[in-house]
Formats: sequence, structure tokens, C-alpha cells
Amino acid sequence: MADKPWGGRFSEPTDKFVEEFTASVPFDKRLYRYDIAGSIVHCRMLARQGIISAEDAKKIMAGLEEILDDIEEGRFEWRVDLEDVHMNIESRLTEKVGDAGKRLHTARSRNDQVALDVKLYLRDEMAAISKAIYEMQEVILDRAEKEIDVIMPGYTHLQRAQPVLFSHHLMAYFEMLERDRGRFLDCAKRADRMPLGAGALAGTDFPIDRGFVAMLLRFERPTANSIDSVSDRDTNLEFLFCCSALMMHLSRLSEELILWSTGEFGFIDLPDAYCTGSSIMPQKKNPDVPELVRGKTGRVYGDLVALLTVMKGLPLAYNKDMQEDKEPVFDAADTVRGSLRAMKDIMAGMTPRVDRMLAAAKGGYSTATDLADYLVGKGLPFREAHEVVGKVVRMLTESGREMEELTLEELQGVYPGADEEGLRRLTVESSVNSRNHIGGTARAAVMEHIQLVKELRKKTEG
Ligand code: ARG
Repeated sequence: MADKPWGGRFSEPTDKFVEEFTASVPFDKRLYRYDIAGSIVHCRMLARQGIISAEDAKKIMAGLEEILDDIEEGRFEWRVDLEDVHMNIESRLTEKVGDAGKRLHTARSRNDQVALDVKLYLRDEMAAISKAIYEMQEVILDRAEKEIDVIMPGYTHLQRAQPVLFSHHLMAYFEMLERDRGRFLDCAKRADRMPLGAGALAGTDFPIDRGFVAMLLRFERPTANSIDSVSDRDTNLEFLFCCSALMMHLSRLSEELILWSTGEFGFIDLPDAYCTGSSIMPQKKNPDVPELVRGKTGRVYGDLVALLTVMKGLPLAYNKDMQEDKEPVFDAADTVRGSLRAMKDIMAGMTPRVDRMLAAAKGGYSTATDLADYLVGKGLPFREAHEVVGKVVRMLTESGREMEELTLEELQGVYPGADEEGLRRLTVESSVNSRNHIGGTARAAVMEHIQLVKELRKKTEG
């Protein structure tokens, strides 16, 4: 049984089915770059500390570089009987450089090795996702600035509530994405601890230098407890939560785009390239892409719940259950990347139907609150003003008219002290622009929000 790196204590070969059942190489091979990077630094440290010879280290590092090339050029043969990415690479290394290769695993275990690999992978992944979020935000900013004069109905309970700027609505998503980006960056900060050196769980009796390894791998410092280092999967979990929250936001946006592109709303046209037709109904243009993003949110939540559940009953330290930590993470990462790309393109390619939005904003008596506020300004207590405006709305509904069609005589009929200003306040433009404070929907307020964000970005990001 010497063909397995751990075969020494076994007298019978592993069952073929068990070999496949326990293998992680079909999915963890994508960690190869991080596995090799970690091994090279580990090897340098071993040589520097005199644990292996400089000569062996040279051979090991050259062998690992070769393996990296082999993998990238598709020359590497992944073997399920070698279980995982770690043993595949190590075994190939020994084939290439002989005995020196067998010394690489000194003072290391796959338990700390896999913890390191995933942290390195997630560091890159989180940087890439943060960048993708940033780019989607750029598109939103751009549209919000260009579309600053477009008025749409704002909703509560999916009933028209008060008119808002389309830009204001878009900037709400900017804010959500800003929190998402912050969450990934925050997660990356907490993940900035280097686990290698924990060994199987208790550390090692070799004179290792973990600070050196941490420095070369660009971690802030080594982890502080060897047991925690190999039993902790918080980075994976936090990452999955960050992905879930982000997907929840993209899903809400998707839902709105789907609604807005219906014949009933007609607020936007989605780009043709991002829609599909029906095989039976020639008139159809279906919003498949936002629908899929909305649907894929479910699988990302599933990824989070899957790993939370895997971890909940595990005694310290490493247990094989934890091999189940990687597929949900890869799945969520891939899903989030695709969804961000899709949503960014849709946001850039959609066409707002300005007239439809404006007409909808003018309907539904959405400036009723403005009239009530106006009456309050005239000295009426708010509750009474509410009552008076209620009557106005009923009167208009009965005669099938909209808010802006109210006449001065009618207004004075319900409140004798009313004047022209009262009618002006009923326009959607007046309604929107009267909300001129930080966070309000007035043109000036939204413009200021956009400018502020843009300046901040110029200062902090490249
Ligand atoms: N493939 C394993 C995993 O992903 C690596 C660690 C294996 N450690 C062990 N003691 N069997 O979890």
C-alpha cells in the first residue's frame, strides 16, 4: 500500500468506491495555484531554518514551478486515487525531483495546508468580487447622473406612494452595493491570519518561523492558536454570507427590472441581447437573465446554509466533514461573479421609458401628501389636513381625474384659505424637489449625493 502517501499503516488497498467517495480532487484542483504558492514559501522557510538542505529546497521549488506550468498548460494528470490537490501535487513533485520531494511535507499537515489554500483563494476571490461590485456601481452612478431629470412613482406595498427621481431609486442600489463591498473588505481583514504551522492540530516540534511564512504570503500575522487554525471555517462562512446578502440585493433589483419591463409597468426596455424569446409565442421577450439572477440567489443561500450545517456539530479540530467546505464556496463565488456581470450589463443597456414613468408618477394621487403638507403650512393640524385631502382624492376618483387636474375652486371648496401655491404643490416636480435634504429625492439632493460619492471614489480608489 505504499502508493498512497499515507499507505504505510494499511495492509489492504482502499475500496475503489471509497476512493472516489472520499476524493476532493475533482473540485479542489482549482486551488492548485495557491497550493503551490504556499508550498514554495513553506519550502523556503524550511531551508532558511535549516530543517531541509538548500539543495533540496532548490529542487523542490524548481519542481513546483514546473508542475505549475504543467497544470496551466493542461499536461498534468489529476488522479482520484491521490485524493486531493495537495497529494496530487506532492506525489508528482516526488516523481519529478525524487527524495527531495518527500521532504516538502516536513512540519506541515494537509489540515493546515488546506486552511491556507482556501484563505489565499478567498483573498483573491474577494478582491475580484469587490472590484466587480465597484464596476457595477460605476454604471449605476453614470446612469443616475445622466437620468437625473426622470421622475417615477415611488412605491410602498407595491402601491404608488410618492414621486421620486429614477436616479434616487438607482442610487438606493448603489448604497446597498456599497455595504456589500464593505462586507467583503471587512471579511478579508478578519481573514488576514496565516494558518500554516498549525500542523495536524497541535503545532510542530520543528523550529519553524511562522512570521516569515506569513510575511512572504502577505498576511498580517500568523494565527494565534493551532487548534483553531485547522478547525475554523469562519472565512468561508462569512464569505458565503457576504455573497448571500449581495445576491439578495441583486435579486431585489432583478425583481424590479422584471416588473418594470412588463407591459403593465412599461418603465424600461431591457436590452435584446439579455432577453430571450418564446418557442411558441412570437410576441414574447422574456427577462430570463434577471429571472435567473433572482433564482440563483436561492442556491447561494443554500451554499451558506449547507456549510453552517456541516460545521454545527463538529468537535475540534479537523474532521473530514470539513472537506465539504469548498464546493459551496466555489459555487457561490462563481454564481456571484456571473450575476454581477449580468446585472452590470443590464444596468448599462436598459432604456428607461421616461414618459411612461412620468405618467405613472402623476397617477395614483401620489402627491396627496404634498397637498396635506401644504395645508399644514396654512395652519391646519396634520390629522385634519389628512382628512381634507382624503375628501379631495375621493372627489377626483369619482370624476375619474388625477391630482394635477384639481381646480382652485374645488380646492377652496374644501379649504377656503387655499391659493395657487396649493395647486403648484400638486405637481410631481414640486413634490420631488421639495424634499431637499441629505438623503431626500430632490434633484439638488440627489446630485449632491452622486457628486459626493464620485469625489470619495477619486480619492480612495485607483
Ligand atoms: N482534502 C482535504 C480537505 O479538503 C484536505 C485535508 C485532509 N486532511 C485529512 N486529515 N484527511 O479537507
